[in-house]
Amino acid sequence: ASNLSPYESIGGADTISRLVDAFYPRVIAHPDLAPIFPTDITPVRDKQYLFLTQFFGGPPLYTKQYGHPMLRARHMPHQITKKRAQAWLSCMQQAMDEIGLQGEIREFMYSRLAMTAQHMVNQEDDEP
Ligand code: HEM
Repeated sequence: ASNLSPYESIGGADTISRLVDAFYPRVIAHPDLAPIFPTDITPVRDKQYLFLTQFFGGPPLYTKQYGHPMLRARHMPHQITKKRAQAWLSCMQQAMDEIGLQGEIREFMYSRLAMTAQHMVNQEDDEP
């Protein structure tokens, strides 16, 4: 029903967990993204699980553990170009495909992530 959050509509904790499990192997295998992520991706995967849970209307797990997300500020130590934002979003598209997330709810979630990814850009691409 339309009064459900995206989190609830897609199946809650289990689906968010499957999404981040499908996403990070692609991130660390992506030539544009690998250089800025740590070798041990598990802590990042776990934080993203907490964050996406609350971002899509589930319980505020990230804030409970780490405080206000301040996502742009937390990304400032990393060089995030438009090219990297595109790469991040393409990994997310593939992860959504892998777990079979489809339809209007997927489009809604993807558009929220795309807006956020654009907001993270903090550096010009090398080439114009
Ligand atoms: C952390 C890259 C977009 C959520 C990080 C880290 C990197 C990164 C390098 C730090 C990993 C570490 O701990 O060493 C990127 C790139 C993006 C992007 C290249 C492309 C635009 C996003 C978006 C979201 C997001 C769109 C949310 C929807 C997070 C969260 C963390 C994180 C929650 C953990 C923050 C913490 O330290 O508590 N990201 N990110 N990121 N990112 Fe992103």
